[in-house]
Amino acid sequence: MKNATIVYASLTGNTEEIAEFLVDEFKSHDVEVELIEADDADEDSFADADICVVATFTYTDGDVPDDLEDFFEELPDQDLAGKVFGVVGSGDDDMHHATFCNAAIEFDKTFEKTGAVRGSELVKIDNAYDDDDVPALKAFVKNVVEFEA
Ligand SMILES: Cc1cc2nc3c(=O)[nH]c(=O)nc-3n(C[C@H](O)[C@H](O)[C@H](O)COP(=O)(O)O)c2cc1C
Repeated sequence: MKNATIVYASLTGNTEEIAEFLVDEFKSHDVEVELIEADDADEDSFADADICVVATFTYTDGDVPDDLEDFFEELPDQDLAGKVFGVVGSGDDDMHHATFCNAAIEFDKTFEKTGAVRGSELVKIDNAYDDDDVPALKAFVKNVVEFEA
């Protein structure tokens, strides 16, 4: 059985709800899943995972959230060869169009330095997810589960 670890950051709950959706979706694919809040994430978080997922909102001027900053800085030093990664972001396209989901974009790029392979394209969600986002979130999970690293 494959297993997935989702590291997420959420200030007002939008990304947390997305992460919880992903948990349920992974379970529906018979994937064991662990959800780790940003404050508890460290260099060991992905050690035992086949599938490594980051779900993050974007903060001021496109920044990675404060509580994911250390994890983000240390990510390139992690050896995640043989694993699959995927990133989901929440941002605000109206208020912050120029930096929409920039933190997720940065994670998606930085994962490439770990040796893990991208199992799905980055998914960007405008604030809270709604019914229109469900197909993309389901496809994200299906892709990372079925991708063979
Ligand atoms: C002070 C502040 C700055 C923000 N800056 C950005 C930004 O640069 N780019 C973006 O896409 N969203 C930005 N957002 C929007 C949040 O990322 C978005 O509302 C997200 O859904 C929040 O996720 P959360 O509910 O999980 O905390 C900002 C929000 C706040 C409050």
